[in-house]
Amino acid sequence: MSSTIDSILVENRIFPPFPNLVEGAAISGMDAYRALCDEAERSPGEFWGRLARENLNWSKPFTQVLDESQAPFYRWFGDGELNVSANCLDKHLETPTANKPAIIFESDDGKVTTITYKQLHARVCQLANGLKSLGHKAGERALIYMPMSIEAVVAMQACARLGIIHSVVFGGFSSKSLHERAVDVGATLIITADEQVRGGRTIPLKSAVDEALAMGGCEAVAHVVVYKRTGGKVQWHPERDLWLDDLCNGQPEVCAAVSLNAEHPLFILYTSGSTGKPKGVQHAAGGFLLWALLTMKWTFDAKDSDVFWCTADVGWVTGHTYIAYGPLAAGLTQVMFEGVPTYPNVGRFWEMIQRHKVTVFYTAPTAIRSLTKAAETAPEYHPRKYDLSSLRIIGSVGEPINPEAWMWYYTNVGGERCPVLDTWWQTETGAHMLTPLPGATPLKPGSCTFPLPGIDAAVVDEAGGPVENSKGGFLVIRRPWPGMIRTIWGDPERFKKSYFPPELKGVYLAGDGAQRDADGYFWIMGRIDDVLNVSGHRLGTMEVESALVSHELVAEAAVVGRPDGTTGEAVVAFVVLKRALPEGSEADDIAKQLRDWVAKEIGPIAKPKDIRFGENLPKTRSGKIMRRLLRVVAQGETVTQDVSTLENPAILGQLSQAH
Ligand code: WTA
Repeated sequence: MSSTIDSILVENRIFPPFPNLVEGAAISGMDAYRALCDEAERSPGEFWGRLARENLNWSKPFTQVLDESQAPFYRWFGDGELNVSANCLDKHLETPTANKPAIIFESDDGKVTTITYKQLHARVCQLANGLKSLGHKAGERALIYMPMSIEAVVAMQACARLGIIHSVVFGGFSSKSLHERAVDVGATLIITADEQVRGGRTIPLKSAVDEALAMGGCEAVAHVVVYKRTGGKVQWHPERDLWLDDLCNGQPEVCAAVSLNAEHPLFILYTSGSTGKPKGVQHAAGGFLLWALLTMKWTFDAKDSDVFWCTADVGWVTGHTYIAYGPLAAGLTQVMFEGVPTYPNVGRFWEMIQRHKVTVFYTAPTAIRSLTKAAETAPEYHPRKYDLSSLRIIGSVGEPINPEAWMWYYTNVGGERCPVLDTWWQTETGAHMLTPLPGATPLKPGSCTFPLPGIDAAVVDEAGGPVENSKGGFLVIRRPWPGMIRTIWGDPERFKKSYFPPELKGVYLAGDGAQRDADGYFWIMGRIDDVLNVSGHRLGTMEVESALVSHELVAEAAVVGRPDGTTGEAVVAFVVLKRALPEGSEADDIAKQLRDWVAKEIGPIAKPKDIRFGENLPKTRSGKIMRRLLRVVAQGETVTQDVSTLENPAILGQLSQAH
């Protein structure tokens, strides 16, 4: 482990909660928040037990809340039984929610399809019956490799209904990644589509499945169920391939939900670790569902009248918790989008919020930053050109949101009427962990503020000792929580090593650096591995990026470290300017301006040694900046890693030359 970050963040702007959101909020006011935190601290067992009984329908009630005997392999509600799909769908059937739209789906080309809870339930049951007829059953593993579609949610819910453990693979991953996952989970079933459509382009999916299966080692895959999205040409293997429609047509619209132990795995989702191959993060049915639903209520203050829109892909955890499960368990109407924010133009998100009267909007900082840039160059698509008055809450997830992006989002999208919820969490945590509450928390731009009730977050040093406020350290969670990762599929040792290293004595290590300010607010400093050490001073890459982005010329910036003979590490910044270089200016001049700017914002020590300009940054299709690749480029080396998951592989060449 690297050591701690010592850096001081100063953010003096504070935004108190809006009175109209405080009134009637699930957690209304800081006193109510503290009361819940106190209840959890006094008796975690009673706290979580009460919430699990009040919020979930159990087919067999649990008698034990938490079993710590095999820690860190915690078991929650371990003798209880329930079904996640029944808790998302069946429970609404006898209520007015039954006829309410569950999903308003908008395709890439703007076609809108709406499905009610009752209809969604029927579709899920038909697919579950179809899968049953093929002989698939509880405990098997299914890969889901689907475009953003109602069918993707149906597939996940149908698996949950039968106790088939799903592993969704993001549609942007290659056949090689798919193969790796199919082998690792021992899949017996794959649910896919012929093609997907994004930004006016079709991208094949079925052929990637064919390629993956041809690589061998996954002979256990008995069936490939194919959703016909485009009708594009596919190769067919009649002994294993079936069209989704053929499988579902004529199946009964009722299918009993299988009563499953609360610890039955709901899904396995692969995520990158700092080393080695991706880890299969395993989540348990009961705890995950409870945490997904509670955070819908607490963080998003779910109201029956809400139109919720999470822009994530179902291939990532955000799409699991806040598309496939949370909003349905909460009985909300949600918008689901097939395409990309820039097609047919950069106003797409804003237009969709306007069209569907979205009330809660949840997206990623990278989208916000790129749309900020787009709004500068294409003012006709600026969010202010749209009627966004339906919004009441706007959220952010996935990376630190720098204060400038936060302010832009708050001002231009939220119209200075909506709180920006900067939600910190991970694939491993199941749902939100640190986040403002719309009816309680005074906001500071760039801070994820405080832990949710029941979440015992702390900042510690490398020996697990406490770190005082305004000093950096490791973010840890000191007590287990229901939504937590149960293990890494097939690799319990790696689970222990990655998340419960012995030097931290039993606390969960998040892998992020963090610090608390003088008011106790949490500030995430980025992954521990992104922390730089320059001349013995520790710097969060995020701080430097934040400084750069706050410069009027800069749209986006990514900062990495480069080994340096003199200073240990040197700061290298990759910068995307809002406009082409101003008339008559040289890159060197701008670079100097930016260096001086950073020196002024943070201190001369944070001055980037090297600044490279590009039209863009290398990003995964989920929008994460690939700092790993930038580190290679920063060192003047050639990238030899697989770049197939990059949105824009060509940018690497440009940045390498942009000396
Ligand atoms: C980062 C995404 C700062 C963090 C839900 C974490 C954040 C990793 C935030 C998990 C945030 C996520 N502020 N950093 N609000 N949210 N992160 O597993 O480094 O894809 O460890 O889960 O994203 O990414 P993952």
